[in-house]
Amino acid sequence: MSKGVTIWFTGLSGAGKSTIALILEKRLRKLGAKVEILDGDVVRTNLSKGLGFSREDRDTNIKRIGFVCNLLTRNDVIAISAAISPYREVRDYNRQLIGNFLEVYTRCSLDKCIERDTKGLYKKAIAGEIKEFTGISDPYEEPLNPEVVVDTDKETPEQSAEKVFNKLEELGYLDHLNKTAAV
Ligand code: ADX
Repeated sequence: MSKGVTIWFTGLSGAGKSTIALILEKRLRKLGAKVEILDGDVVRTNLSKGLGFSREDRDTNIKRIGFVCNLLTRNDVIAISAAISPYREVRDYNRQLIGNFLEVYTRCSLDKCIERDTKGLYKKAIAGEIKEFTGISDPYEEPLNPEVVVDTDKETPEQSAEKVFNKLEELGYLDHLNKTAAV
Protein backbone atom coordinates (compact mmCIF):
# COMPACT_ATOMS: atom_id res chain seq x y z
CA MET A 1 0.00 0.00 0.00
CA SER A 2 1.28 3.46 -0.78
CA LYS A 3 2.27 5.52 2.24
CA GLY A 4 0.79 8.84 1.25
CA VAL A 5 -2.67 9.99 2.12
CA THR A 6 -4.66 13.21 2.14
CA ILE A 7 -6.54 14.06 5.30
CA TRP A 8 -9.26 16.44 4.23
CA PHE A 9 -10.77 18.51 7.04
CA THR A 10 -14.02 20.27 6.23
CA GLY A 11 -16.24 22.38 8.45
CA LEU A 12 -17.31 25.88 9.40
CA SER A 13 -14.87 28.66 10.17
CA GLY A 14 -13.93 28.32 13.83
CA ALA A 15 -14.94 24.66 14.01
CA GLY A 16 -11.37 23.66 14.86
CA LYS A 17 -9.91 22.33 11.59
CA SER A 18 -6.52 24.05 11.91
CA THR A 19 -6.19 23.32 15.63
CA ILE A 20 -6.77 19.60 15.16
CA ALA A 21 -4.57 19.52 12.06
CA LEU A 22 -1.65 20.97 14.04
CA ILE A 23 -2.00 18.40 16.83
CA LEU A 24 -2.18 15.61 14.30
CA GLU A 25 0.81 16.94 12.38
CA LYS A 26 2.92 16.94 15.54
CA ARG A 27 1.94 13.42 16.43
CA LEU A 28 2.60 12.07 12.94
CA ARG A 29 5.96 13.84 12.69
CA LYS A 30 7.00 12.22 15.96
CA LEU A 31 6.53 8.89 14.23
CA GLY A 32 8.83 10.01 11.44
CA ALA A 33 6.11 10.73 8.89
CA LYS A 34 6.49 13.47 6.30
CA VAL A 35 3.55 15.82 6.80
CA GLU A 36 2.39 19.05 5.16
CA ILE A 37 -0.60 21.18 6.13
CA LEU A 38 -2.44 23.25 3.55
CA ASP A 39 -4.43 25.66 5.65
CA GLY A 40 -7.14 27.76 3.98
CA ASP A 41 -6.06 30.97 5.67
CA VAL A 42 -2.43 30.40 4.67
CA VAL A 43 -3.15 29.25 1.11
CA ARG A 44 -5.27 32.35 0.57
CA THR A 45 -2.23 34.55 1.27
CA ASN A 46 -0.09 32.92 -1.44
CA LEU A 47 -1.27 30.11 -3.76
CA SER A 48 -4.83 31.49 -3.87
CA LYS A 49 -4.04 35.14 -3.25
CA GLY A 50 -6.67 37.37 -4.85
CA LEU A 51 -9.46 34.82 -4.79
CA GLY A 52 -12.72 35.74 -3.07
CA PHE A 53 -15.58 33.72 -1.63
CA SER A 54 -17.97 33.23 -4.55
CA ARG A 55 -18.69 29.59 -5.32
CA GLU A 56 -16.40 29.79 -8.34
CA ASP A 57 -13.49 31.22 -6.36
CA ARG A 58 -13.96 28.76 -3.50
CA ASP A 59 -13.99 25.89 -5.99
CA THR A 60 -10.81 27.19 -7.61
CA ASN A 61 -9.18 27.46 -4.18
CA ILE A 62 -10.21 23.92 -3.22
CA LYS A 63 -9.08 22.47 -6.55
CA ARG A 64 -5.67 24.12 -6.11
CA ILE A 65 -5.35 22.67 -2.63
CA GLY A 66 -6.44 19.28 -3.99
CA PHE A 67 -3.87 19.51 -6.78
CA VAL A 68 -1.04 20.09 -4.31
CA CYS A 69 -2.35 17.41 -1.92
CA ASN A 70 -2.33 14.97 -4.83
CA LEU A 71 1.31 15.71 -5.67
CA LEU A 72 2.29 15.27 -2.03
CA THR A 73 0.24 12.13 -1.51
CA ARG A 74 1.74 10.35 -4.48
CA ASN A 75 5.19 11.12 -3.05
CA ASP A 76 4.40 9.35 0.22
CA VAL A 77 3.65 12.50 2.18
CA ILE A 78 0.70 12.84 4.56
CA ALA A 79 -1.04 15.95 3.23
CA ILE A 80 -3.51 17.69 5.50
CA SER A 81 -6.01 20.16 4.09
CA ALA A 82 -7.72 22.51 6.53
CA ALA A 83 -10.09 24.69 4.52
CA ILE A 84 -13.84 25.18 4.93
CA SER A 85 -14.44 23.51 1.53
CA PRO A 86 -18.19 24.04 1.77
CA TYR A 87 -19.19 22.35 -1.49
CA ARG A 88 -19.61 18.60 -1.64
CA GLU A 89 -19.03 18.33 -5.37
CA VAL A 90 -15.50 19.71 -5.34
CA ARG A 91 -14.57 17.75 -2.21
CA ASP A 92 -15.68 14.62 -4.03
CA TYR A 93 -13.71 15.72 -7.10
CA ASN A 94 -10.57 15.84 -4.95
CA ARG A 95 -11.41 12.45 -3.43
CA GLN A 96 -11.56 10.92 -6.92
CA LEU A 97 -8.38 12.69 -8.00
CA ILE A 98 -6.32 11.67 -4.99
CA GLY A 99 -7.63 8.21 -4.13
CA ASN A 100 -5.95 7.85 -0.72
CA PHE A 101 -8.35 10.27 0.87
CA LEU A 102 -9.76 10.55 4.34
CA GLU A 103 -12.48 13.12 4.89
CA VAL A 104 -12.87 14.53 8.38
CA TYR A 105 -16.09 16.37 9.06
CA THR A 106 -15.18 18.88 11.74
CA ARG A 107 -18.67 19.33 13.11
CA CYS A 108 -19.59 22.20 15.35
CA SER A 109 -22.88 24.02 15.79
CA LEU A 110 -23.09 27.43 14.21
CA ASP A 111 -24.05 28.85 17.62
CA LYS A 112 -20.84 27.54 19.12
CA CYS A 113 -18.72 28.92 16.24
CA ILE A 114 -20.40 32.31 16.70
CA GLU A 115 -19.76 32.13 20.44
CA ARG A 116 -16.07 31.31 19.86
CA ASP A 117 -15.67 33.84 17.05
CA THR A 118 -11.90 33.37 17.23
CA LYS A 119 -11.21 35.80 14.39
CA GLY A 120 -14.08 38.22 15.06
CA LEU A 121 -15.48 37.52 11.60
CA TYR A 122 -18.90 36.16 12.60
CA LYS A 123 -19.71 39.44 14.33
CA LYS A 124 -18.90 41.30 11.13
CA ALA A 125 -20.76 38.79 8.96
CA ILE A 126 -23.89 39.06 11.14
CA ALA A 127 -23.65 42.85 10.95
CA GLY A 128 -23.53 42.51 7.15
CA GLU A 129 -20.00 43.88 6.92
CA ILE A 130 -18.71 40.66 5.33
CA LYS A 131 -20.75 39.17 2.50
CA GLU A 132 -21.02 35.50 1.50
CA PHE A 133 -19.91 34.27 4.92
CA THR A 134 -20.19 30.51 5.33
CA GLY A 135 -23.00 29.57 7.71
CA ILE A 136 -24.37 33.12 7.86
CA SER A 137 -24.97 34.24 4.30
CA ASP A 138 -23.40 31.39 2.31
CA PRO A 139 -24.06 27.64 2.29
CA TYR A 140 -22.19 24.79 3.93
CA GLU A 141 -22.87 21.29 2.59
CA GLU A 142 -22.21 18.57 5.14
CA PRO A 143 -20.31 15.50 3.96
CA LEU A 144 -22.55 12.47 3.40
CA ASN A 145 -19.98 9.74 4.04
CA PRO A 146 -16.95 11.17 5.84
CA GLU A 147 -14.44 8.64 7.17
CA VAL A 148 -14.33 10.52 10.47
CA VAL A 149 -16.70 12.90 12.25
CA VAL A 150 -15.32 14.97 15.10
CA ASP A 151 -17.73 16.89 17.30
CA THR A 152 -15.67 19.80 18.45
CA ASP A 153 -18.32 21.31 20.68
CA LYS A 154 -18.19 18.11 22.77
CA GLU A 155 -14.60 16.86 22.37
CA THR A 156 -11.23 18.39 23.13
CA PRO A 157 -8.97 19.02 20.11
CA GLU A 158 -6.73 16.21 21.42
CA GLN A 159 -9.64 13.77 21.45
CA SER A 160 -10.59 14.78 17.92
CA ALA A 161 -7.00 14.36 16.71
CA GLU A 162 -6.92 10.94 18.34
CA LYS A 163 -10.02 9.88 16.40
CA VAL A 164 -8.37 10.81 13.11
CA PHE A 165 -5.13 9.12 14.12
CA ASN A 166 -6.99 5.91 14.99
CA LYS A 167 -8.75 5.90 11.64
CA LEU A 168 -5.45 6.35 9.79
CA GLU A 169 -4.09 3.41 11.72
CA GLU A 170 -7.19 1.30 11.08
CA LEU A 171 -6.95 1.93 7.35
CA GLY A 172 -3.26 0.95 7.28
CA TYR A 173 -1.82 4.36 6.43
CA LEU A 174 0.59 4.23 9.37
CA ASP A 175 1.83 0.68 8.87
CA HIS A 176 5.19 1.83 7.53
CA LEU A 177 5.92 4.04 10.56
CA ASN A 178 7.75 3.10 13.71
CA LYS A 179 4.93 3.29 16.21
CA THR A 180 7.12 2.51 19.21
CA ALA A 181 8.48 6.05 18.80
CA ALA A 182 4.97 7.37 19.45
CA VAL A 183 5.30 8.37 23.10
S1 ADX B 1 -13.01 27.94 1.33
O1 ADX B 1 -14.46 28.13 1.34
O2 ADX B 1 -12.39 28.39 0.08
O3 ADX B 1 -12.63 26.57 1.68
P1 ADX B 1 -11.00 28.85 3.16
O4 ADX B 1 -10.95 27.79 4.20
O5 ADX B 1 -9.94 28.87 2.12
O6 ADX B 1 -12.47 28.88 2.50
O7 ADX B 1 -10.95 30.28 3.87
C1 ADX B 1 -11.82 30.52 4.94
C2 ADX B 1 -11.25 31.56 5.88
O8 ADX B 1 -11.25 32.82 5.26
C3 ADX B 1 -12.09 31.68 7.13
O9 ADX B 1 -11.62 30.87 8.17
C4 ADX B 1 -12.00 33.14 7.45
O10 ADX B 1 -10.84 33.36 8.25
C5 ADX B 1 -11.76 33.81 6.13
N1 ADX B 1 -12.94 34.41 5.49
C6 ADX B 1 -13.00 35.67 5.03
N2 ADX B 1 -14.17 35.91 4.41
C7 ADX B 1 -14.89 34.76 4.44
C8 ADX B 1 -16.17 34.37 3.96
N3 ADX B 1 -16.94 35.20 3.29
N4 ADX B 1 -16.59 33.09 4.18
C9 ADX B 1 -15.80 32.24 4.86
N5 ADX B 1 -14.58 32.55 5.33
C10 ADX B 1 -14.10 33.80 5.14
